[in-house]
Amino acid sequence: MDCKKFLVVLVIAFSHVSFVASSNSKIVNSFESYTVQIIDGSIENLLAHIASKDTDLGNKKMTINGVFQWSFRRNFHDTTLFRGEFLWLDVDDTPLREVDFNVFDKNVAKECGQSILIDHKCFWLVNATGFYFSKDTPGNWVYKYHWP
Ligand SMILES: *[C@@H]1O[C@H](CO)[C@@H](O)[C@H](O)[C@H]1NC(C)=O
Repeated sequence: MDCKKFLVVLVIAFSHVSFVASSNSKIVNSFESYTVQIIDGSIENLLAHIASKDTDLGNKKMTINGVFQWSFRRNFHDTTLFRGEFLWLDVDDTPLREVDFNVFDKNVAKECGQSILIDHKCFWLVNATGFYFSKDTPGNWVYKYHWP
């Protein structure tokens, strides 16, 4: 076992121990897992570009009812942040409108839930009106951002 692997095993073991000892521990809270799903509700030609500081999920071309999702765990330092850039494109791919905002950050985590026991599901619905957020299931939509 190399040193890095040993450290990972040690950290996992330690987080388990501290979870048993105290469910409010800071270490436990930094391992929450999330799946974020982007749903295209009504845009014929939508381009979504999601990226964090060290992960670029690329340009996703979406059409009506299209879904794009990814999963991750939050880091130790509460700094996990995914920025989303959304382009509403014309049929010939000319950008008509553009919006960008944090599809996941500290505040979204708070809203989506912060239990270590659950794989949290956070949803963004994109349609002609704008951007809606829902946690747990796609349906309790809360209006968050509008297209310019
Ligand atoms: C966008 O979705 C919201 C939430 O479901 C809905 O209230 C709104 O009417 C939709 N807008 C359009 C243009 O479909």
